[in-house]
Amino acid sequence: MRLILLGPPGAGKGTQAKRLEEAYGIAQISTGDMLRAEVKSGSELGREAKAIMERGELVPDAIVTAMLAKRVQQPDCARGFILDGFPRTVPQAESLDLMLREQKMELDHVIELKVDDAALVERIAGRFTCAKCGTGYHDRFKPTAAAGVCDVCGSTDFVRRADDKAETVGARLEAYHRQTAPLLPFYAAQGKLRQVDGMAGMDEVTRQLQAILGSPAGGI
Ligand code: AP5
Repeated sequence: MRLILLGPPGAGKGTQAKRLEEAYGIAQISTGDMLRAEVKSGSELGREAKAIMERGELVPDAIVTAMLAKRVQQPDCARGFILDGFPRTVPQAESLDLMLREQKMELDHVIELKVDDAALVERIAGRFTCAKCGTGYHDRFKPTAAAGVCDVCGSTDFVRRADDKAETVGARLEAYHRQTAPLLPFYAAQGKLRQVDGMAGMDEVTRQLQAILGSPAGGI
């Protein structure tokens, strides 16, 4: 199964993609995570991407598309994948269509997580991640069970994303509405677009996604 999760920053794409990855045994591909790994490694690509991401703008299509083309060739994508954060522009979507056609692959679903802008700001501002194992949390919606201790690995070291600052979130939302929202009519015209209520609680959003995708063998 191959699917795209579409939605603005903070809509819950990463949260839901991780759940679907586990439940359906298909790879989560987050271009944001891949770019952050490049930034962390100090590579040339990472140095170029860092300033762009911190301004809340999109990294050039050619860079992200080349990165994605390599990623989908990895063995863990053989059973399918969930694209989280890609495509983000119409040229990226056109490149993806071409890539899939060349490899005789079908895109099964494109699902929009619909969330109001006002809720996104709160979601992004409250997000933090375990520095050791990468588990994601939220100050209000998904706090750690014991204050300041990761539920999964017990680490007390947490990080917040550089682009989650209030002054950058506005630019990210603006980029979404200007450059990514045109993908909604693009995929609607292909008859592939479905929507879920991203304002609902995390478990309810997973339930709505599962209703579209069909039950995974092991259940969610
Ligand atoms: P990227 O990493 O893709 O970030 P994003 O799209 O801005 O999305 P986020 O990761 O902020 O949010 P999300 O929807 O995954 O929400 P999450 O599940 O974390 O991209 C970052 C940057 O990289 C871009 O700005 C760009 O510069 C560059 N980039 C990446 N891909 C690119 C591309 N293709 N082309 C060009 N540039 C690219 O949830 C948010 C918070 O809310 C969490 O704390 C979570 O716990 C909480 N939450 C989730 N669901 C719910 C719920 N239902 N109810 C309450 N709280 C919830």
